[in-house]
Amino acid sequence: MQAVATPAADFAPAQASSAETWPFTATRCTPTIGAEIDGIDLGQPLDDNTYLALRRALLKYKVLFFRDQDITPAQHVAAARRFGELEVHPMIPHHPDHPELVVFGRDGSTRGRENLYHSDVSWREIPSMGSMLRCITCPDVGGDTLWVNMVAAYEALPQEVKDLIGELKGVHDAMPTFGQGITGTRYDEMRKQFPPMVHPVVRTHPETGDKILFVNEGFTTHFANYARVRPYRIGSDGRMAEMDLMQYLFRQAAAPEYQVRLKWRPNTIALWDNRATQHYAIQDYFPAPRHMNRATIIGDKPV
Ligand code: SIN
Repeated sequence: MQAVATPAADFAPAQASSAETWPFTATRCTPTIGAEIDGIDLGQPLDDNTYLALRRALLKYKVLFFRDQDITPAQHVAAARRFGELEVHPMIPHHPDHPELVVFGRDGSTRGRENLYHSDVSWREIPSMGSMLRCITCPDVGGDTLWVNMVAAYEALPQEVKDLIGELKGVHDAMPTFGQGITGTRYDEMRKQFPPMVHPVVRTHPETGDKILFVNEGFTTHFANYARVRPYRIGSDGRMAEMDLMQYLFRQAAAPEYQVRLKWRPNTIALWDNRATQHYAIQDYFPAPRHMNRATIIGDKPV
């Protein structure tokens, strides 16, 4: 299908022109984030033109939704790999034949734990560029996922907050989430293998140049270099202001104005930009089964 996408200009990356012709239709989901893509079969190899158009659509809308993608795990891996190298997640179970596919399998005995705002693997030195998540099974009602435009969340901050956080660095750590219940030498080994990483609180998108609020409640534990803005009695008095500021920044992700919410169906795929978004998988469906496979695309060091 040949169609012209005419997305609105808000939050559009500089490279994308509204006059651009794409070999698919993109229907905006909200004024801020998300588009539903029609006219693409992700089971087929993406030619250069289609891939480049999809990449530009991804930069523009930040999360893309594709319905009715009845594809194999191998095709899922191949489609995601078109966007970059894939990582193997060290802690979440994998598909038996495709280690690049993380398996989120909920079957009535375990609850989903992805119900907190996060950007995938922000605790890595090189966090993810993007993720491609495919729904295998989901409940008729419940188990939706939210994505947040963290460029919009940054832009809306008061100038005084932007000034305060401009030079701050955040510490990102996998262990408070993935280390839960792990003790002894196993904990020590994981701690050694996955040390906390320091990233800018405001990162610059490597492709669009946008500024992005890059702290998330899933993995960011504290500021590495918070400076008190006025004299305190003792050094640790600054902690309260520091934690307040972090909580305030986390709360930006929870504003519905910056969000889109997807109701899954089997064979729906979401492709998102982890650099410019956060997401939250709503855990309201237990004990109904929900099975998802995710390919995670390696990105670059945040600056
Ligand atoms: C994830 O956090 O990548 C999983 C999201 C979901 O299962 O909807």
